[in-house]
Parts: sequence; C-alpha cells; structure tokens
Amino acid sequence: MQKKQAPTLISAFEQEVYEGLTAFPKHLSSKYFYDEIGDKLFQDIMAMPEYYLTDSEFDILEANKVEIAELFKKDGQPFSIFELGAGDGKKTKILLKYFAENQICFDYRPIDISQNALDQLETSITKEIPQVEINTLQGTYFETLRDISEVNGRRKVILFLGSNMGNLLHPQAVEFLKNMRESINENDLIFMGLDQKKNPQTVLDAYNDKTGITEAFNKNILTRINTELGGNFNVDRFLHWEVYDPETGTAKSYLVSKESQVVRIESLDLEVRLNAWETIHTEISQKYDDTVVAWLANQANLKIVTYFTDDKQWFKNYVLKK
Ligand code: AVJ
Repeated sequence: MQKKQAPTLISAFEQEVYEGLTAFPKHLSSKYFYDEIGDKLFQDIMAMPEYYLTDSEFDILEANKVEIAELFKKDGQPFSIFELGAGDGKKTKILLKYFAENQICFDYRPIDISQNALDQLETSITKEIPQVEINTLQGTYFETLRDISEVNGRRKVILFLGSNMGNLLHPQAVEFLKNMRESINENDLIFMGLDQKKNPQTVLDAYNDKTGITEAFNKNILTRINTELGGNFNVDRFLHWEVYDPETGTAKSYLVSKESQVVRIESLDLEVRLNAWETIHTEISQKYDDTVVAWLANQANLKIVTYFTDDKQWFKNYVLKK
C-alpha cells in the first residue's frame, strides 16, 4: 500500500532552528537576529557609546575618503560598489556622498539579509544622495556572492564593513574569502572593515551594555521563533551572557536558561527541554590582528594592498585583491 504524504517544505530558518535546538550544546545563528525589530535594535547598538566599532570605522572613512576614492576609481572607468550586509548604510554614505560630489562614476548595489533594511536604505539614499544609482539585492552572503560573480562589465569594489566577517569562525571566513575571490577579477577590490584586538574590557563592554540593548538584540531570535514558528519562549527565563577570550580574540554571546523549562515550537512540532543554566550559543564576534588577517588572506590566496586605521588602532579597513 502506498502512503500519501504531503512534502514538508521547510524554510532555512526552520531547518536551522530545528538543528540548533536539538544539538548539544544548543546553538542558533546570529543571522536570524535581523528582522524589523532586530534591525532597529542593531541601529540602537551602533549608537551606544560602548559599541566603539561604528564610531571608529566612521572616523576612518571620513579621514581617508579622498585616498579611498583614488583607490576605488583607479583609471577613472565606471565601477560597481557591492556592499555585503549594508544595513542602514550610515558609514557607506560618507563615501557615496563624497564620490557623488566629485563626479566619480559608479553604481551602488547593497546586499542584506533583511529586506526591511534594504527598503529603508533605498529610501534614504534616494532622498539624501539622489545622484546615486542604487540596486538592492536580498540574500545571505554566500547566496549573493554567486550573483556578484555573474554581474559582468564594470569593475567591482566589494565593501564588507562593520566587522561583519566577525560572525564567522576562521574556517568559514577562509571559505567565504575564497568565494569572494572567485567572484572578482584581477582589477577588482575588496574593502573590508575588521575590529581589532584591544583591551579585553573594552571589547566585553561593547557586547554587554547595562542598558540591555544587546540583551534585547540577542533575545530577539527567541521572539522571532515565537512569532514566525509558533514558539512559546518566555525571554525573561533567559540571561544574556557574553564572554571574550583575549587569546583567540573571540567574543561569544549566549542565552542561558535560568531554570529548567520546556519550550514548544508549533511549526516544528518540537519540544525543547532546557536544564537550569543550560546555554544556547547565538553569536561570535571575532576580533583580529594583522597576523591573523595576513593568515586569512593567504589561506584564500588574496593580497593585502593596504589598510586604513584610526588613532587608537581599534579598527582597521583592509584593501584586498586577487
Ligand atoms: C554586525 C556582526 C558586526 O558582531 O559586532 C553587535 C553584531 N552583536 N552587538 C558584531 C552585534 C552584538 C555585530 N556585527
């Protein structure tokens, strides 16, 4: 006898939540922080005094925009700027404004996992710098690199700001850089912002603000599971916990269950049991130094052309090519 069964079409989000919450130790991916609420919380994070990354990179771009423009425009041929994880584009706008004011010929192709972030970015660019030709693309980094490699014609500059690569462990980062190398040509550039190792307290404070914004950001993944997958997480039963290991340069975020509890996720038909003080690992934010960056570039067969930094050397923007 034949059994008739409807195919279970399951989203990447459902699949990863299922895998992560049935694994030991439990984990969830930080790429799911970013819905409308998460985008707003991340903007609030960038505005916090503790979150030095945004200010440092902002200063680097502002102080070096003339030199960066020279690098990007090369022989004056028009080029395309692809930006991975564009977000609200606050820092990118420094460059876009300067390029537009100086009649530099380029088009702007921001990429983000959040369609909401892209819609807001398109609206604000059109209003603030109407000269800029903008084409948005929604997707994950790995998905969209494929699209990038298929766009041919203009020279490419890939922007990867904000230490976004820090969400990847080194082996994944190498994989990612290799993919990036595959999607560019000899004359193209990668412009990548990476947060640097520094006083461990400074790093820890950036992910552990007293106001609870980072905590809310971290817990937003549980809220998303509640609203999108029919979960019944009570976020008050979890602690936001941050650790920073100055040896490896890895900051890690956890949600720690304050009590023994069972959570039900309707769309996965799943019951998740958590012991008291059991963890769900949600994010890594890797910090770098020149030795590690040189090693990563070398693994991916990319060359470091130059870099820009701030007075405190807290953040660096590296220029890479094939
Ligand atoms: C957007 C991935 C660079 O890891 O610093 C901020 C995200 N997480 N506070 C980072 C984040 C907690 C951020 N990145």
